[in-house]
Amino acid sequence: MSDQIIDVFKADRLDAAARLFVSVFNAEPWNDRWSEASVRARLADVVATPGFVGVALQAGQDLHGFAIGHTEQWFTGRHFLLQEMCVRTDLQRQGVGAALLDALEARLVDVEQIYLLTEQDGAARRGAAQRFYERCGFRAARRTGVMTKRIPPMP
Ligand SMILES: CC(C)(COP(=O)(O)OP(=O)(O)OC[C@H]1O[C@@H](n2cnc3c(N)ncnc32)[C@H](O)[C@@H]1OP(=O)(O)O)[C@@H](O)C(=O)NCCC(=O)NCCS
Repeated sequence: MSDQIIDVFKADRLDAAARLFVSVFNAEPWNDRWSEASVRARLADVVATPGFVGVALQAGQDLHGFAIGHTEQWFTGRHFLLQEMCVRTDLQRQGVGAALLDALEARLVDVEQIYLLTEQDGAARRGAAQRFYERCGFRAARRTGVMTKRIPPMP
């Protein structure tokens, strides 16, 4: 990581972040079907959210990875929702993700907890994100789950 710098994620990196995101998440193991326009809209929403905090790993003009989200108030204190995180595919498993998380945590002032959504118990490579977060100190929530509803409901 010699010529790489972790800096705050700035809105002028949205196009580069959208390209990076598409290259990572439209490939194995996620095989999503993001367009650059849809990712850019999602990332722009996150950047515009009150309490936004984000970090980016840069090598010159190249974006190698980023982690972004926002802080929110809970009755016990402030929490941070990690909305999106990715590292360029050919740079994964070299410590970039852990360094990004460290840099992000250093910027979270008066935050008592970080939380995120990811696939649990995914098979093989799909479980890699969960293993990464566990290695970085995250634990699956014991009491809280995610509920969803289709609108309109599926027939
Ligand atoms: C998840 C991600 C952000 C982690 O960043 P990273 O730079 O690869 O992670 P680090 O090098 O800091 O940490 C590596 C550790 O994470 C876990 N890990 C990361 N990728 C893995 C993979 N493909 N397979 C297995 N374990 C993996 C392992 O515990 C690994 O340690 P090891 O290499 O000693 O076994 C990155 O791999 C990524 O962008 N993945 C695709 C997108 C994604 O899943 N984002 C999160 C969605 S919620």
